[in-house]
Amino acid sequence: MTDDKARRVALVTGAGSGIGRATALAFAKAGHAVVLSDRNPTAGADSLREIEATGAPAMFVLCDVADRVDVCDLFEQAIARFGRIDAAFNNAGIEGETASTTECSEANWEAILAVNLTGLWHCMRFELRQMLTQPGGGAIVNCASVAGLVGFAGLPAYTASKHGVVGLTRTAALEYATHGIRINAVCPGAIETPMLERIMRGDDKMRQAVLSAEPIGRAGTPEEIAQAVLWLCSDGASFVTGQAIPVDGGWTAQ
Ligand code: NAI
Repeated sequence: MTDDKARRVALVTGAGSGIGRATALAFAKAGHAVVLSDRNPTAGADSLREIEATGAPAMFVLCDVADRVDVCDLFEQAIARFGRIDAAFNNAGIEGETASTTECSEANWEAILAVNLTGLWHCMRFELRQMLTQPGGGAIVNCASVAGLVGFAGLPAYTASKHGVVGLTRTAALEYATHGIRINAVCPGAIETPMLERIMRGDDKMRQAVLSAEPIGRAGTPEEIAQAVLWLCSDGASFVTGQAIPVDGGWTAQ
């Protein structure tokens, strides 16, 4: 059993489902104390139960990353309980509606940017301020997407938000490279989560279209993204910063 004070502390946004839940669980299994947050209280409580069953110290904070007051409260509570944040995974994201650039509504555009880009930026600012003041710095991983690297017809706001995440990751990495803080992004391909199910809307043709874009012949699992995030936050990745790493079954190799 790891002494609680010797544990690294990991924080995950959007930890109630899919990639966030799997990554929070992977951090717990790797010996971290875990701060989970989500805007869905039921999903967050379910994830917390799963993580506490591993024996890892954990807490859940209800937080909509698009709400500055919520974000401030998340970091206050996390620091009050654990005193530091060694690893942060800014994962909360929404896909929004599918519509072309001319048809995309302003409401859809604003909602997606508010969560995927502005919300992530707010979280990063708190993480950076904390990591700058604590011994040992830390590591941040932002959840982008293959849509942060290539265009996606029908998803203008989502694609713009994820390209923004990649740009912000690179910029912050340059700013804090000499401060012991590494900042990277993961760019998942199609991953079997509730989000992917919503995008495919139970439509077999849509499923085939998505899967045919995956050279590896299948969708990825949330656990496969979790492993990449854990590595990026580990000492094994000590010379890796400012990178947007595809974990995409070969999607962007085409
Ligand atoms: P999901 O929909 O299964 O889980 C997302 C979680 O984030 C949910 O628990 C939801 O309540 C939470 N969330 C949403 N908006 C939030 C907000 N404003 N504040 C706090 N929590 C919020 O989605 P999934 O697939 O696990 O996605 C996680 C991340 O991975 C997202 O950033 C997504 O864009 C990205 N991604 C997903 C891919 C996929 O194929 N599933 C592919 C590429 C990227």
